Amino acid sequence: MNRPPDVRQHFEEYAEQEWDRFENRLTGRIEYAVHRNFLMKHVRLGDSVLDLGCGPGRYAIDMMQAGANVTLGDVSAVQLDIARQKIAEAVLDATAALELDIRDLSRFDEGEFDLVVCIGGALSYVHEDYATALREMARVVKPGGRLVVASMSLYGLLPVFAAGDKAGQLRTFDQHIDRRKLLDNPGYLITEPDSPVIYMPLFLCTNRYLRDFVESLGFRVVGSAAANPLTTDGQKLERISADPEAEATLIDLEVSLSERPELADSGEWVIVAAEKLGA
Ligand SMILES: C[S@@+](CC[C@H](N)C(=O)[O-])C[C@H]1O[C@@H](n2cnc3c(N)ncnc32)[C@H](O)[C@@H]1O
Repeated sequence: MNRPPDVRQHFEEYAEQEWDRFENRLTGRIEYAVHRNFLMKHVRLGDSVLDLGCGPGRYAIDMMQAGANVTLGDVSAVQLDIARQKIAEAVLDATAALELDIRDLSRFDEGEFDLVVCIGGALSYVHEDYATALREMARVVKPGGRLVVASMSLYGLLPVFAAGDKAGQLRTFDQHIDRRKLLDNPGYLITEPDSPVIYMPLFLCTNRYLRDFVESLGFRVVGSAAANPLTTDGQKLERISADPEAEATLIDLEVSLSERPELADSGEWVIVAAEKLGA
């Protein structure tokens, strides 16, 4: 299997910081609020859920607390250990937490889950194998079941590359993104492997591209969102985060605007929810 070798290693070393990033930065707190608000609209009591690229399990815990039976899957054993620990701290029953790669879900039967979730990056990290991974996810959703999937945003992330340029990290824009590919492609881009700004090659796409791809797999799109619609990770926002009322107002605004079609390609993430046809 063609896996970039540093993805697993990165998340093994990143360890607990993956949990902390939703607490110690305002943009992280917004990201969590927007994703959680969107995701929980598609979780039902008693659902059997497969949470892929689950990381330390924040969304798995939310779904379990909403009465879903969640199976966790991640390529990093360290992240799975943290997830087991966080689930125990939340006083929830132990659940299956499996070391796996989203490109190979052959251990699961066709139509095994009511809901398959893959948010927070795993799809983008598999680079040109994104189509294989999405097909695998689609296969294990039962007819009438749902898929909630996120990719890093093609256009929304351009300001992050620009920030790298400002910091003198980028010698040329093409070091990360081949401009010709950006101009020619129909809504997705596989970034160049040799970027000093982002530590690994990525699959990035537009909202329209992800919607169309998921529909081509026999699904009907039932919702989509951008995260964060107004802010990008790394923005300091010091004055807002120093004022609890200002922070609460911004989070509320971001959540409220996240599903606006006009903002679908802003922010770092495009998120799509879809229902499998044929029930
Ligand atoms: C940024 S974290 C997101 C965690 C969680 N879903 C969230 O949004 O908070 C990305 C996770 O994807 C996992 N991952 C990356 N590539 C993967 C792959 N090919 N298969 C399974 N998991 C993968 C990483 O180990 C990491 O835990």
